[in-house]
Amino acid sequence: MTPLSSKNDREVTLQQTKAATGASAVTVQAQLGQNTMERIGNTPLLRLESIARNLPGIRIFGKAEWFNPGGSVKDRAAANIVAEGRRSGRFMPSKILLDSTSGNTGIAYAMLGAAHKFKVTLCMPTNVSLERKRILNAYGANVVYTDPGEGSDGAIRKARELHAANPERYFYADQYSNDANWRAHYQDTAEEIWRQTSGRITHFVAMLGTSGTFVGTTRRLKELNPEVQCVSLQPDSPFHGIEGAKHMVTAIVPKIYDATLADEDLGISTEAAHAMVKTLARDEGLLVGISAGAAVAGCLQIAQRLVEQKKSALIVTVLPDSGDKYLSERFWDE
Ligand SMILES: Cc1ncc(COP(=O)(O)O)c(C=O)c1O
Repeated sequence: MTPLSSKNDREVTLQQTKAATGASAVTVQAQLGQNTMERIGNTPLLRLESIARNLPGIRIFGKAEWFNPGGSVKDRAAANIVAEGRRSGRFMPSKILLDSTSGNTGIAYAMLGAAHKFKVTLCMPTNVSLERKRILNAYGANVVYTDPGEGSDGAIRKARELHAANPERYFYADQYSNDANWRAHYQDTAEEIWRQTSGRITHFVAMLGTSGTFVGTTRRLKELNPEVQCVSLQPDSPFHGIEGAKHMVTAIVPKIYDATLADEDLGISTEAAHAMVKTLARDEGLLVGISAGAAVAGCLQIAQRLVEQKKSALIVTVLPDSGDKYLSERFWDE
């Protein structure tokens, strides 16, 4: 893997983040350190050389989102949701931030809550990994556990119930319906990809969870170049092991999701995602999470088809988090 970056990325993203959070406009010099908000975004774009080794004319890149301070892509959405909540006055200092999450958004809220002194209550299925529970505990978040059989939908229903019972107490962030979620990717993720590839991206591929990453990045990339092909990915069955991802046909469909944006939508099996996580670790030296494995498996399907059609391509995907939260999963030993 090789980083592909533009020299002005850091400066531009810092300015944008500060604008979004209302922080000082003074340029922060790296040697003086950065606060949590300023460290969100501007992640490296890694070239996946081994994966594309036998694919003539194809280059595949992954945005290494574990470089965000909370360790995942969800820092972007969470920070923008908090900033927008404050700006609009809906998230008053007296309120507790409430949301449902399968883990990473919760970690992002909990980290921001600790850094910016607000309380956080999260609804989450009990079967999320032990590592995630420990991280949330470390940041001091309050967690309401829900039935694992009901998946992320059970957590959504619980959050709605808590908010309905006590609307004055909570700022219900509602990442599934909050436009600040996809806008974080419209404003930053897409612009970073555009700069980092010098506008040469031909395909954008991303896994759907709340759909914020896909919707926001696609909307902006299509404005920059309508020819960019945007492919959404989702688990190929309702019962899957791709944490953070949603099987849209059977789940509560997020309000922010717009299926018409995708040029194509592909289903990825949990087995293919697991296999790709191992391949990325052992052939590429990259320890990524399961949805990142699924994303690269999707890129490979698209790449193989393009090779058959004798087309060249620069494919970019998002690697939502690293593998260290999934090390206790059984597939490593299979
Ligand atoms: C590990 C992981 N991958 C992918 C996603 C999907 O991202 P989005 O919610 O922007 O669709 C999430 C969302 O929580 C996630 O935690």
